[in-house]
Amino acid sequence: MEDIKLSIDSCLKFISKDSIAGYETQVKACSETLHNGTGKGNDFLGWLNLPSSVTAEFLADIKATAADLRANCDVVVVAGIGGSYLGAKAVIDSLSNSFAWLQDQKPIIVYAGNNIGEDYLAELTEFLSDKKFGIINISKSGTTTETALAFRLLKTQLEKQMGKAEAKKRIVAITDKAKGALRTLSTKEGYKTYVIPDNVGGRFSVLTPVGLLPIAVAGLDVDSLIAGAQRMEKVCGLNTPFAENIAAIYAATRNELYRNGKKIEILVNFQPKLHYFAEWWKQLFGESEGKDNKGIFNAAVDFTTDLHSMGQWIQEGERSIFETVLSIKKPNKTMMVPSDADNLDGLNFLAGKHVDEVNKMAELGTMLAHVDGGVPNLKVEIPELNAYYIGQLIYFFEKACGISGYLLEVNPFNQPGVEAYKKNMFALLNKPGYEAESKAIQARLK
Ligand code: PA5
Repeated sequence: MEDIKLSIDSCLKFISKDSIAGYETQVKACSETLHNGTGKGNDFLGWLNLPSSVTAEFLADIKATAADLRANCDVVVVAGIGGSYLGAKAVIDSLSNSFAWLQDQKPIIVYAGNNIGEDYLAELTEFLSDKKFGIINISKSGTTTETALAFRLLKTQLEKQMGKAEAKKRIVAITDKAKGALRTLSTKEGYKTYVIPDNVGGRFSVLTPVGLLPIAVAGLDVDSLIAGAQRMEKVCGLNTPFAENIAAIYAATRNELYRNGKKIEILVNFQPKLHYFAEWWKQLFGESEGKDNKGIFNAAVDFTTDLHSMGQWIQEGERSIFETVLSIKKPNKTMMVPSDADNLDGLNFLAGKHVDEVNKMAELGTMLAHVDGGVPNLKVEIPELNAYYIGQLIYFFEKACGISGYLLEVNPFNQPGVEAYKKNMFALLNKPGYEAESKAIQARLK
């Protein structure tokens, strides 16, 4: 069976092969630091051997809970934010029918707890008012404002609609094993729970129950997802030679581009189902590397859609960018361009071709144009869009992120910067315990 492949050929006009080869020793040292657990953030390395540690019993339990929710709910609300939701949404969107939610999909999966939009929450409440729904509430800390607020509303609504006893059968909590508000509430109410391991941070948690339960509820193949990740754990393992280790080469190439002034990496897809995969990727790299006044800025575009908007900037704007293209080799479905007797749109030259052939020529044409325009291109080739290869992609990017963060000499596993807005928000809302901050901020705003 093929694996995902990485090609850096379209970068070699900008950086040399030798410069990448020159990273071998550094990358080896970073990989050893990761595997030996001797680097910064070494209490958050649980993701490293996670795929190979997943057991059949654990997956069977996840699938049984998912089957219960599928049988008892028309809608399942996944409540979580950041690492507690993006992985699940990335995988579910990548692998589901684009129009499933408009058809008779059961259960419909919707998301909450990832924003504080009053309209969003009010409209969600209206939507759920005549539905049999369940909740998967995901929060390691249990106190994240966005998620806790949404859960408070959803729990109240569910209990009102179903009664407390029925409601608790439809609520699953995924949280810390012992501490935090959600663990305390779950124990008190008797919810089914899953544990987010202490040593796995949010953005690396998609292969824990955080991602696996919602993915299984969506009816997707979690066994294949894990099998793909297990395969990549081997392919990107410590003993894989540098030249064959795609995570190592990707980490080295993006760092070399960064050192040569390419400060922005754009993840490109030519398949709109991957939109949220890119959102997950943005969090993975952005939250891991953007610190100590360093780090590549992570952006993403959906092509060809965004070629008609951001395409102009990418072709001719400031030359501080490079692209990493997710390229799916073979579509899952077949759709041919029909012939038309009048040919008023002039498209008969495409008649009889696969739509994907048009897409692939757009992809190739874009790559050539962008390289000519001064934009290095990396390409990740994915044989097919299925659970196995999404599992490979997830682990590939996680491993590359760990190595890349160490190459950049930051702690890739913390996120101290996300506290700043929370502190101000709590002070502005007069949260108990924030009196001093509240005074300081009011004085500043006068
Ligand atoms: O990656 C992270 O650590 C964050 O994105 C968290 O997952 C996010 O802030 C949600 O935190 P929690 O799971 O504690 O609600």
